[in-house]
Amino acid sequence: MKITIIGSGYVGLTTGLSLAYLGHEVTLIDRNHVIIEKLRNGVVTIHEAGLGQLLKRIGRSICFSTRLQDGIDAQVIMIAVGTPCKRNGDTDLCFVEAAAEEIGEILPPNHTPVVVIKSTVPIGSARRVKSIIELNLKKRGVENDFFVASNPEFLREGVALQDTLYPDRIVMGADEIIVFDILRQVYLPILEQSFEQPTGVQAPQGYGLPAYVTTNLASAELIKYAANSFLAIKISFINEFAGLAERVGADIREVALGIGLDRRIGTGSLAAGAGWGGSCFPKDTQAILYTGFLYDYSLPLVDAAIRVNKRQRKGIVDKLQSALKVIRGNTIGIMGLAFKPGTDDLRDSPPIEIAHILLDMGAHVRVYDPVAMYNCMAQYPDMKVEYASTVQELATGCDALALITDWREFASLDWDCIGSSMRNKVVVDGRNMLSKQELEHKGFTYIGIGTC
Ligand code: UDX
Repeated sequence: MKITIIGSGYVGLTTGLSLAYLGHEVTLIDRNHVIIEKLRNGVVTIHEAGLGQLLKRIGRSICFSTRLQDGIDAQVIMIAVGTPCKRNGDTDLCFVEAAAEEIGEILPPNHTPVVVIKSTVPIGSARRVKSIIELNLKKRGVENDFFVASNPEFLREGVALQDTLYPDRIVMGADEIIVFDILRQVYLPILEQSFEQPTGVQAPQGYGLPAYVTTNLASAELIKYAANSFLAIKISFINEFAGLAERVGADIREVALGIGLDRRIGTGSLAAGAGWGGSCFPKDTQAILYTGFLYDYSLPLVDAAIRVNKRQRKGIVDKLQSALKVIRGNTIGIMGLAFKPGTDDLRDSPPIEIAHILLDMGAHVRVYDPVAMYNCMAQYPDMKVEYASTVQELATGCDALALITDWREFASLDWDCIGSSMRNKVVVDGRNMLSKQELEHKGFTYIGIGTC
């Protein structure tokens, strides 16, 4: 099937490459000439495992363009542009609306595609997209019975390809049965798992077939916010109990396992630590609170999850302070800058906020991340931190290290060597990924999250 995707961010690019791999004829549109040129030359513009190899493998079944004109004849047009958060928590729909306007400006009269909204958008946005397209068609005197659908995306950065090819479910909101049928055809290879698994992107163990969940438009839009709010609440819940575990002498990892094995709860998203960040949880929890505000309906659980998450970040600083007594004048090394491993994304990243708090408190802050340092330099040119090119360099002369992003390489460090170069052997493990026993044996003061 001919499919056009507007937007080449995490969702657009991963979806585009996956659908091309599954045999569709895909056109990926982005206004940014630099991104399109790079993609045409086989260079993937985001740090995401497996995408580069997939781009090489699919070759000519995907086209890249800066002009929607080149993809307007597709049967399915997916909008996968960014939906940033405004200052008041509302969602900025300017990119979605611009895409809808452009579709309405050039859609030919005799061509009736399904316009699918993949971006995370507030309730009612699919209808708004429909009316913007209709308005622009009307201006041209064109009649066209195109369709709209809401197809929220649940992929996680770092494992975006796995999540796209092996989802738990595909959610589809629409008003007409025919739309469900057309879009089922788009996802058929995934729904039936009938494709050859790409090298290095295998299905998770015990993976079955994904469900195809068909709903009305508002339900599909709300499902995305409900899913992300639930996960954010789940992580904040375990972080809240981590604080209590420290006080009563329990270990939160044991508690997480003990509750997670109850199938009604599940073991996922129960890793206590420095809290959640990224492009979705912070933005979507704020956005759903704003929706509640518009309807004069409070969402105290979501609100509490946000507050617990803020406290969790500050909690890392409190742990450093209780170990060092005074923050001012001490050198603190932050391990990790990305909001989670496997990505160079710094959006609402806990280490960045922690670095800012420490700087404000008068610490000398040094940072290291295996992939996100250039992004950090570009996005935070005024942040007065020192960049180290290895963990060893980071640690040299430090009074404490704070591990905030659980990059795999941090699990196999030479702590003898690191310890010998530090001024003070203190480690705050903000992701509970190091061995307390090993570090204490090597003379470190080790402080985890919710551990005893
Ligand atoms: C999330 C959702 O998982 C995904 O379904 C949605 O489409 C987009 O938002 P993502 O932000 O990529 O995906 O990452 P995720 O792996 O869910 O982690 C989000 C944050 O929570 C990270 O900062 C991570 O470090 C933190 N986290 C996650 C925890 O602190 N503990 C956990 O147990 C899991």
